[in-house]
Amino acid sequence: MSPEWGVMSAIGIFDSGVGGFTVLKALRAALPDESFIYLGDTARLPYGSKSPDTIRHYLKQNIEFLLAFPVKAVIVACNSASTVVDGDHWQGIPLYDVIQPGALAAVKASKQKKVGILGTRATVASQAYVKAIHEIDAQIECVQQSCPLLVPLVEEGWENDPMSRMIMTRYLTAPINQGVDTLILGCTHYPVLKPIIQELVGPDIALIDSADVLVDNLKRDLADGRVTTDLGAGTIEVWTTDSGSHFHEIGQRIMGSWPLDSWQHADIR
Ligand code: DGL
Repeated sequence: MSPEWGVMSAIGIFDSGVGGFTVLKALRAALPDESFIYLGDTARLPYGSKSPDTIRHYLKQNIEFLLAFPVKAVIVACNSASTVVDGDHWQGIPLYDVIQPGALAAVKASKQKKVGILGTRATVASQAYVKAIHEIDAQIECVQQSCPLLVPLVEEGWENDPMSRMIMTRYLTAPINQGVDTLILGCTHYPVLKPIIQELVGPDIALIDSADVLVDNLKRDLADGRVTTDLGAGTIEVWTTDSGSHFHEIGQRIMGSWPLDSWQHADIR
């Protein structure tokens, strides 16, 4: 690893796999001149089945990997890792998780004060969304549903497969039956499935993607100087802890027409 490829000041972002690209895509669209360094911890995916201590260890290593570059902010683009984030900076660098923005957006969206939360087992067990929502509005009823099979389906690129639809239908049954009017896509892999989930739950249930509020928060912090406005070359450099052309293919598919400029191996164990 070497920070010698010309970025003066980039935004670091990581996930266990391709899910963070859903956040990166929103960031890239909103901030087209920024440089990004994306880390996919593919060697240790999934995070959602791991204990808080293990995830905390990964979080620390991933942030430290990104801080070896000239980064001006770090985005934890993983809900499972966000559940163990403690504080809003790391060694003086602003740190952004995806739980707070999702909770805030859900509270604003829910008219009937009944919010469903889809997430990994780690995210659901942590109760992080429930706590974050109740800090804003203690009257909101939360219905949590862990969906452990969805991450592998997205990593596999099977979002449109009939099998995936059946699995999603099964996971969505309890929140729908309990009358939620808002559903948090509480794993950064799930926005890839958003069109199908919307079709399955119907148009009256609002789907929340944390990336939207996260983008607003970052833009606000760039405007008020909490995050420096120094720009790099406007590139996206991707690092992964395991190799694999399939990851590249799915990552680029999620990013659509936004180019991913380089792929390199990150030696994190
Ligand atoms: N994309 C991640 C999340 O938001 C992690 C999925 C996983 O590794 O289990 O939770």
